[in-house]
Amino acid sequence: MRRLAPHVGQVTGIDTDPAIIDAARARGVPANAAFRVGGLAEVRGRFDVVTMVAVLHHLRAREALEQVVGLLNPGGRFLCVGLARVDGAVDLAWDVLNAATNPVIGVLKHPRVNRGAIAEPAFRTVEPTLALDELRTVGAEVMPGLRVRRRQGFRHTLKWTRPG
Ligand SMILES: C[S@@+](CC[C@H](N)C(=O)[O-])C[C@H]1O[C@@H](n2cnc3c(N)ncnc32)[C@H](O)[C@@H]1O
Repeated sequence: MRRLAPHVGQVTGIDTDPAIIDAARARGVPANAAFRVGGLAEVRGRFDVVTMVAVLHHLRAREALEQVVGLLNPGGRFLCVGLARVDGAVDLAWDVLNAATNPVIGVLKHPRVNRGAIAEPAFRTVEPTLALDELRTVGAEVMPGLRVRRRQGFRHTLKWTRPG
């Protein structure tokens, strides 16, 4: 959110876990940013961009994607980094490749361990239940034309623009 704030009029960040919101606020709140404790379903209003990182697999995918559609202005963008269940040879091969490259990327991007003054709270984790192909199917039904790409770091990205 702090990286987004200089580029947008207003940015709102949510998490259902108050500890995560407290940690975000402790790092400073830009003048045009608001952090709120709450879930996606409680968000009201319309936005030009809805983004989430490693959150969609915590939610019921279809319901969450429908909520995102309802939150976007015409022409608005959904940009999501997610995790999926490993299911089948292609997923497994991709994960094996990631297992080899992830430590290298970690060392290159974070050569020194972050020992900042603000402790990181442990965030809630859940195992993804949907495989990427299943997410692709659900996603395309809710967001026709959704772009799905495998990424490094055991992740994928979802990109969609609400028709204007
Ligand atoms: C794996 S963490 C990812 C946190 C952060 N986005 C990151 O990449 O470091 C998933 C987060 O989703 C939050 N979460 C779970 N259900 C949610 C919901 N319904 N609405 C918003 N956030 C939710 C959890 O509290 C948790 O902090």
